[in-house]
Amino acid sequence: MLWIKNGRLVDPKSQTDQFYDICIERERIAGIFPPGSADQKQGEGDEVIEAAGLIVAPGLIDVHVHFREPGFTYKEDVATGAASAAAGGYTTVICMANTKPIVDNEETLTYLRERAKDMPVRVLNTAAITKGFQGKELTDMIGLKALGAVGFTDDGVPIADTSVVMEAMKMAKALNVPLSFHEEDPALIGSFGVNQGPVSVAVGVAGAPAVAEDVLVARDCALALNTGAEIDIQHISSGTSVAIVRAMKALGKNIHAEATPQHFSLTEEAVLQKGTLARVNPPLRTEADRLAIIEGLKDDTIDYIATDHAPHSKEEKEKEMKSAPSGMIGLETALALGITNLVKPGHLTLSHMLEKLTVNPAQLYHLDAGYVAVGGLADLVIFDENESWTVGENFKSRASNSPFIGDTLTGKVKYTICDGKVVYRDGE
Ligand code: NCD
Ligand code: ZN
Repeated sequence: MLWIKNGRLVDPKSQTDQFYDICIERERIAGIFPPGSADQKQGEGDEVIEAAGLIVAPGLIDVHVHFREPGFTYKEDVATGAASAAAGGYTTVICMANTKPIVDNEETLTYLRERAKDMPVRVLNTAAITKGFQGKELTDMIGLKALGAVGFTDDGVPIADTSVVMEAMKMAKALNVPLSFHEEDPALIGSFGVNQGPVSVAVGVAGAPAVAEDVLVARDCALALNTGAEIDIQHISSGTSVAIVRAMKALGKNIHAEATPQHFSLTEEAVLQKGTLARVNPPLRTEADRLAIIEGLKDDTIDYIATDHAPHSKEEKEKEMKSAPSGMIGLETALALGITNLVKPGHLTLSHMLEKLTVNPAQLYHLDAGYVAVGGLADLVIFDENESWTVGENFKSRASNSPFIGDTLTGKVKYTICDGKVVYRDGE
């Protein structure tokens, strides 16, 4: 048995915030006891993690990661991505389908489901909404769901044709699976990855305006209201989009949205300081947008904190702004960015923030995870909410494209436990 003693258990689902000893037997939680009260049950060979001064919470769940396998394993593969997840306190991650080949066919999905089996954390897969991300013809969503796709998305490539989105939503509703949408209307984009305005002018690119996001957010919320499909508006970056989602959510419970740590932590100014490391789709925008995202997190317009972990190689990110790929890694800094920029300034309580990293994402994907209870799976993160550390380049990820390198953050993951096994220890 494994014991976690004297930790402060914060479980958003049960609204628990209390000191407990937790006992784990094989992959499940066998007991939760007031500290010291069950010491007589402890056996000689039991492992004990002393968690005094630490928070014990459900293992984090990320609804948006890119693990690059197959096709781009020089950036990341399933194993390095899973190691990065474990180091960040994550026990479940949901991979996007923009691999090579794209996950729009049985063979690629079957390969990935097989690959996920030996990983230290739960790696789940989405499949593409449209064949080849062409935005024209739906994939065999029935067949792909049967093979284990937990949801569908063309993330990375917005779907321009409204009738295709409508058709996909009807199918998703029938299959009871969520759809995730990357919202940037290509018709209004000068160039992806940098907010259109003074910063795009300064770095010499045409830029991506917020309105390109707003129009597709409005369209897809309207389609979701009409069809009843469960949707996730991905990586929301515009304040107007937050307001649109807020208004649309008042009309239907099937609309959900995610925000990334980069969008609640940084503004477009980061492009001037960090160059291509701050190039991301949709782009970092203005302080007003950032504050609107924080408001959206506070009033639950935004349900999830998702990393959009998007590894790219050093060589790719060393290119000039217009040719470097968009995206940044995020799994190993997300919890600390949430604590540093949401909890410590008083925007969200720790439990409220953790809700968006555990129970809410579990609900969207119908997962039996994201909570701590006797009989439930032993997926846990143990962290110090007060320890400061400086982000280095030594990530578990194969990539190191983070604009947060060199920043000092508060909140450090100490242990990650998945399926009752310690899959990460700080310092190892
Ligand atoms: C992502 C990637 O690199 O796959 N890039 C990004 O800038 N966010 C794709 C995506 O999530 O849209
Ligand atoms: Zn995207």
